[in-house]
Amino acid sequence: MAKSFLLVFTFLFVAPLCLYGKTSAGFLYPQFYDHSCPKAQEIVKSVVAKAVAKDVRMAASLLRLHFHDCFVKGCDASILLDNSGSIISEKRSVPNRNSARGFEVIDDIKSALEKECPQTVSCADILALAARDSTVLRGGPSWEVPLGRRDSRGASLSGSNNNIPAPNNTFQTILTKFKLKGLNLVDLVALSGSHTIGNARCTTFRQRLYNQSGNGQPDNTLDLSYAAQLRGRCPRSGGDQNLFFLDFATPKDFDNSYFKNILASKGLLNSDQVLLTKNGGSRALVEQYAENNELFLEQFAKSMIKMGNISPLTGYRGEIRKHCRKINS
Ligand code: HEM
Ligand SMILES: *[C@@H]1O[C@H](CO)[C@@H](O)[C@H](O)[C@H]1NC(C)=O
Ligand SMILES: *[C@@H]1O[C@H](CO)[C@@H](O)[C@H](O)[C@H]1NC(C)=O
Repeated sequence: MAKSFLLVFTFLFVAPLCLYGKTSAGFLYPQFYDHSCPKAQEIVKSVVAKAVAKDVRMAASLLRLHFHDCFVKGCDASILLDNSGSIISEKRSVPNRNSARGFEVIDDIKSALEKECPQTVSCADILALAARDSTVLRGGPSWEVPLGRRDSRGASLSGSNNNIPAPNNTFQTILTKFKLKGLNLVDLVALSGSHTIGNARCTTFRQRLYNQSGNGQPDNTLDLSYAAQLRGRCPRSGGDQNLFFLDFATPKDFDNSYFKNILASKGLLNSDQVLLTKNGGSRALVEQYAENNELFLEQFAKSMIKMGNISPLTGYRGEIRKHCRKINS
């Protein structure tokens, strides 16, 4: 029943729009490369799988790249551009510097795709697919990735500095930054669940350990023994780049233990712990996701699709880059 409806729906609505979408401003849809590059998704998946087999953390890093791309000028692969000509790379922004990683994996995917179908699959779509595949590889949910994004011909260093939330932003500031991208409170809480995998550097949470609000005291919303443990490898000064699991309990599994940690006052970043803020209703969501893993995974997939839809370039706007690090000449 649902299946036949989907079929009819696809024929009546999606198919004609696919033809239309090829040439003019349109929306994204999962079948975008079905004819132009049928192996595209398979190729992305296999390169991501190899990279994650070699380095488990790479799953987290690729997921984060898509986020840092989408929050700056939309999901247009602007984050991948290196410095050149008038382009000032986003890679040197505060959120990305010494932090964003996975660029070589994106290069590997792109070169495999260029061999299979030259100048067909955008770098922005590669980021979206790699984020989904990474999530799945760590045991998270899967979803069909809407495709058809095109790549920007520019980057925005200021956008990268200002639009991506910082770990010491207030809850309100973070929510505002999400709302400016068309995402709501539910999306904020669900997508923060990404911190169920991956690492953070000492420098991103040190303030909580020593001098949270300028009175020389640690953050009182941080569990005492967890804080003591963190101070062991995150001293007052030095060790800035030391790495810590965002989810100390199950650092490599894409599950809801991130939310359980927050309820136990063991969220690593200030931006994680402030989700327990009572006003605005995010506490209730943290409690629900901590209670119900399925509910979290289901909402995460929905919110990822929403994030992936942030102002894409379609139709004749932008281009399909040959190399993800530079615009076509
Ligand atoms: C809500 C606001 C958010 C803030 C303030 C924030 C902040 C951070 C910070 C400070 C780190 C550690 C970076 C480092 O030390 O190098 C980090 C890591 C990470 N973030 Fe977020 N983040 C947020 C939302 C998100 C979202 C929406 C996603 C994905 C959809 C995401 C995915 C990740 C992942 C997977 C990592 C680990 C990366 C790795 O190990 O390479 N974050 N985040
Ligand atoms: C937040 O962190 C940034 C970067 O480390 C720092 O420059 C800024 O002063 C911090 N803001 C607050 C309110 O602590
Ligand atoms: C804590 O921070 C405040 C303001 O940023 C500063 O004046 C004070 O000296 C710091 N205290 C300690 C113990 O580091």
